[in-house]
Amino acid sequence: MPKRICYLLCIIFLLASCKKPEFKATPYEIQIPQHFPTILNIPADNPMTVEGVALGKKLFYDGHLCGYTGSDEALQMSCATCHDPQHSFDIGTDNPRFPGGQPVGLSGQATHHVPLPLINLVFNSKGYLWNGATTSIEDIVLATFTDPTEMNSNYASVVAAIRSNSAYPPMFEKAFGTPEVTIDRIAKAIAQYVRTLISANSKFDKYLRGQVQLTPQELNGYVLFTTEEGADCFHCHGGGGTPLFTTNLCYNNGLDNVFNDPHDRFSVTGDPMDHGAYKAPTLRNIALTAPYMHDGRFKTLDEVLEFYNAGLQNSPYVNPLMHHVNDGGVLLTPNQIADLKAFLETLTGEEFIVDN
Ligand code: HEC
Ligand code: HEC
Repeated sequence: MPKRICYLLCIIFLLASCKKPEFKATPYEIQIPQHFPTILNIPADNPMTVEGVALGKKLFYDGHLCGYTGSDEALQMSCATCHDPQHSFDIGTDNPRFPGGQPVGLSGQATHHVPLPLINLVFNSKGYLWNGATTSIEDIVLATFTDPTEMNSNYASVVAAIRSNSAYPPMFEKAFGTPEVTIDRIAKAIAQYVRTLISANSKFDKYLRGQVQLTPQELNGYVLFTTEEGADCFHCHGGGGTPLFTTNLCYNNGLDNVFNDPHDRFSVTGDPMDHGAYKAPTLRNIALTAPYMHDGRFKTLDEVLEFYNAGLQNSPYVNPLMHHVNDGGVLLTPNQIADLKAFLETLTGEEFIVDN
């Protein structure tokens, strides 16, 4: 080989070996609990990383996420303002800022519906929000920043507020390769954190794993929950074979017979049978997530059970799976209602609430 070509090859080789090593964050592995679905809703352009999750967690709880940099707490708002870990990332009725559980955005306008719990969302590919309008957590996060019923801000203010905290740029660098703060990176990191919120260690899970016994009352409630002639809850809220305790589909469950909510499932599909239909929420941690139903009309589980027992409203739109609608409800005895409630209370995963 002529000398000159040899030198040339050496130079090319040296240049190539000087190239900055390709950026690589640490992959975050979702631990799929026993019996849970194995299909995960993780978009290809936002792979989970340990560094992304850590950044998302910090942002989730940061009151300046709404783009306000001052110290007046009434003007701050984070995801946790409405999604409180103590309430399974739902709002609860004892929220210090929104007593009763109906949030008001920074514009002073109330949210269209009450919040939903942020658990096990990575297993839901069918639709988020009460009306199932989107399958993208990233899109929900982006909408939160500008929605008048939530942060009522704009992307530029949000990015500027986050950038002004010197703790963040190094975290963005670790998560995304450069310290640049962008609205898409903020949304991606928060979505990654939300996907890690998995609740799968309730008393009922331990029972399924053979680690604890249920009481006779709880067992009887379980039987009622999963039988049509009993309380008939399982078609929409799952059960032993559907460990999410929801199908993640929308139904009209007979709450009303007049429908004028412009944000129900009908507003998404245009199908008249979807008037008054909403997503069946998960019943995991249900004892923690009052107020109940899309409009928070029930403050206690007792009120919910009274509704399913004898308070159903008939209309042409009631889902056919509400088999007992012509009787006004499932008409259980007070003892059976108590059993059903005892079973629902076994769905609370205490460790989850403490760990996150
Ligand atoms: C002002 C209160 C408020 C704030 C702040 C807020 N949310 Fe929500 N969130 C809601 C309400 C209300 C809903 C239900 C909206 C609907 O379906 O009508 C909701 C729904 C959701 C859902 C859908 C859950 C499901 O099971 O379908 C996700 C995901 C979510 N929020 C994530 C977030 C994240 C992440 C943040 C922070 C960037 C945030 N939210 C900030 C009130 C809030
Ligand atoms: C036909 C499907 C269907 C059946 C059957 C059904 N539900 Fe529901 N459930 C829903 C839907 C849909 C919602 C939300 C409705 C709304 O907010 O408008 C809901 C809401 C709830 C809520 C409130 C959840 C929250 O986070 O606000 C509880 C608790 C509940 N159901 C328990 C039960 C129990 C117990 C049974 C059996 C007695 C039952 N459901 C039967 C569809 C159903």
